Amino acid sequence: MKVTVVGAGAVGASCAEYIAMKNFASEVVLVDIKEGFAEGKAMDLMQTASLNGFDTKITGTTADYSKTADSHVAVITSGIPRKPGMTREELIGINAGIVKDVTANLVKNSPNVIIIVVSNPMDTMAYLVHKTSGLPKERIIGMGGALDSARFKYRLAEALAAPISDVDGMVIAAHSDTGMLPLYSKATRNGVPVSEFLNDEQKASVIEETKVGGATLTKLLGTSAWYAPGAAVSVMVQAIACDQKKMIPCSLMLDGEYGESDICLGVPAIIGKNGVEKIVNITLTEEEKAKFAEAAKAVRDVNGDLKF
Ligand code: NAI
Repeated sequence: MKVTVVGAGAVGASCAEYIAMKNFASEVVLVDIKEGFAEGKAMDLMQTASLNGFDTKITGTTADYSKTADSHVAVITSGIPRKPGMTREELIGINAGIVKDVTANLVKNSPNVIIIVVSNPMDTMAYLVHKTSGLPKERIIGMGGALDSARFKYRLAEALAAPISDVDGMVIAAHSDTGMLPLYSKATRNGVPVSEFLNDEQKASVIEETKVGGATLTKLLGTSAWYAPGAAVSVMVQAIACDQKKMIPCSLMLDGEYGESDICLGVPAIIGKNGVEKIVNITLTEEEKAKFAEAAKAVRDVNGDLKF
């Protein structure tokens, strides 16, 4: 299986590395606009192959999209990341042009590709890919919920003083500091609701720390995170490549699900060889429903700034 990763920066290279390390793809093509950059990253990663024991072939190109032809999956990470104090929404001006251009090049060379959108503001960039690519909606998947859920589990495990493998939890709605919806009511420790273990103060802290998870790292690192985003993308690519039918929260084009239409928002879905195999409808509390609708309104406002 061939995977293209556009943007060989922090997230793109990390995701290429995780994909290679898991050894399920025959080929990963890194694409970057910066002269020689993708070629260099690919060569460096290939020189880890004998050390890390993978056979995936990684190559790089400075925006020669003919090298990406017949990709099964393409990941879009090209664009600028936020700096400390910035919101993801502030990136729209530059990133929309990049994502639109990259999408056209990808689809021209791989008409049956499944696109995973990572560039921020991700829900709006996923919407842009839906509106401009001509691909069926099952083939466009935004990455946000997989990462935000991993951050939620990290915070839950910390508050519970439990190993992460004991904890389950999911984040849906928007991939933004305000629009993220960690489903606390459904979070469990070995099947037991976490509310059995945590008090209201701990609950509020877990939810808040999850929502500002990206901003916290941006402040510490001076730019946005890459290990967990890269790992989250690799899990999604593997679910497609290995037809795992894995349930992952992703930003998908909604058509009435969760009461919303003509918008990309994070919802749980079964991901397999065709991309989105099914959107899973889970019952939300009244409070969660209201928060989901609020997040939709905010994303719709950002989408309004797009020019097609
Ligand atoms: P980065 O700056 O390290 O890498 C971005 C790369 O894209 C650069 O190497 C740049 O040369 C390249 N690029 C720019 N325009 C291009 C074009 N037209 N064609 C090909 N390559 C192009 O940034 P980083 O940290 O990798 O972040 C990438 C994007 O992913 C940002 O928008 C960031 O906000 C977003 N992000 C999204 C996450 C999510 O959960 N959805 C998580 C983390 C980052």
